[in-house]
Amino acid sequence: MKFDNKTLDTEMDFIVATDKEFGEVIAMSKGIYGGLDYLPSRYHSWLKDANRMVILARKDGKVIALESVCIIDDGETMLVEGLRVAPSERGKGVAGILQKYCIQLVKEKYPNVKIIRLTRDDKLGPKDFRKYRLITKQGILLVRFNVKELRSRMDDIVHMLEEAGSELCPTVILEREEVKNIILSMTVSNKLLPSKTIIQDWQPFKPIESNLNLLLKKDLHWIVDNKQCPNFASLCTFPFRIPIGDDWFYLNIDMFGKDLAHIKSHLIAHLHNHTQNGHGNIMCQIFMEPSLWEDMAYFCKHVICVEIAKGYTEQYLLESDLHP
Ligand SMILES: CC(C)(COP(=O)(O)OP(=O)(O)OC[C@H]1O[C@@H](n2cnc3c(N)ncnc32)[C@H](O)[C@@H]1OP(=O)(O)O)[C@@H](O)C(=O)NCCC(=O)NCCS
Repeated sequence: MKFDNKTLDTEMDFIVATDKEFGEVIAMSKGIYGGLDYLPSRYHSWLKDANRMVILARKDGKVIALESVCIIDDGETMLVEGLRVAPSERGKGVAGILQKYCIQLVKEKYPNVKIIRLTRDDKLGPKDFRKYRLITKQGILLVRFNVKELRSRMDDIVHMLEEAGSELCPTVILEREEVKNIILSMTVSNKLLPSKTIIQDWQPFKPIESNLNLLLKKDLHWIVDNKQCPNFASLCTFPFRIPIGDDWFYLNIDMFGKDLAHIKSHLIAHLHNHTQNGHGNIMCQIFMEPSLWEDMAYFCKHVICVEIAKGYTEQYLLESDLHP
């Protein structure tokens, strides 16, 4: 499907992505995020999402940029994801034009959308703050480990923490049918979620039923410390492949709450679940309340004995109004 590009005064044309362009998108994405790009694993499923459009910009018939727009929050928010421009075309305004194009398309197709949201981890400048409001931020801890190696030590780590007596709090994996009630409960929404937002991986969702329906379509592990009155909640993806190497996977864990003993216990629980089986190497992104980062980095390095792959970075949730 090809769109009209006259109003943008550009030599680019815009198409809805299909499976056919996968090779070109991957070629254009080489090296993005230092090899930790989620898009190769997500591309084909994104094309099937009913509430999503993946738009490509082409020049002279060649794919030079991609942006995806996902409609969430009961149809009121457009979530912008996956933005990338081919290296040879960067710095020429391509991202800006593609973003404008996608906004125009959303206004036509989804007139109820009022807000644009996106998450970023790069340094924000004054121009970004003129354009967006900062809604919340999470600290990102990136650790890496070999699955078999950690599996061989996991029982000893749990045993050692239990012996120490103070470290481990209860963790309960939620059944699918329990997730909605517990996560939408006032305690979780008001007390635990940063700015009342469920940030799953890089996607921010308001805690409302329609978003929970979207989240429940994904393969996630939801954990709380107790079901009646949760003091801590977390959710974790299943490992998915990343382009950094043949046997490398991403495992992303979102932590909601401010208590150190709970976050440690949730991390152990998720790592325990995901090292029971499987192989290869994992890059694990742990998103958390920023003040917990230092202690968690110490815990990961000296207690779980996994490698810290990156210093402190932040995930920013940004928002702006979509003017009619
Ligand atoms: C970031 C990137 C997409 C910018 O592309 P570009 O064509 O060189 O950018 P432009 O020349 O159009 O100028 C930047 C515009 O994109 C916006 N932009 C820059 N980085 C952005 C980001 N990470 N997320 C959203 N918008 C971004 C700027 O605000 C600016 O908008 P404006 O024209 O309204 O002021 C490009 O450098 C790239 O592909 N980098 C690697 C992938 C990446 O880091 N993607 C960011 C995903 S969070």
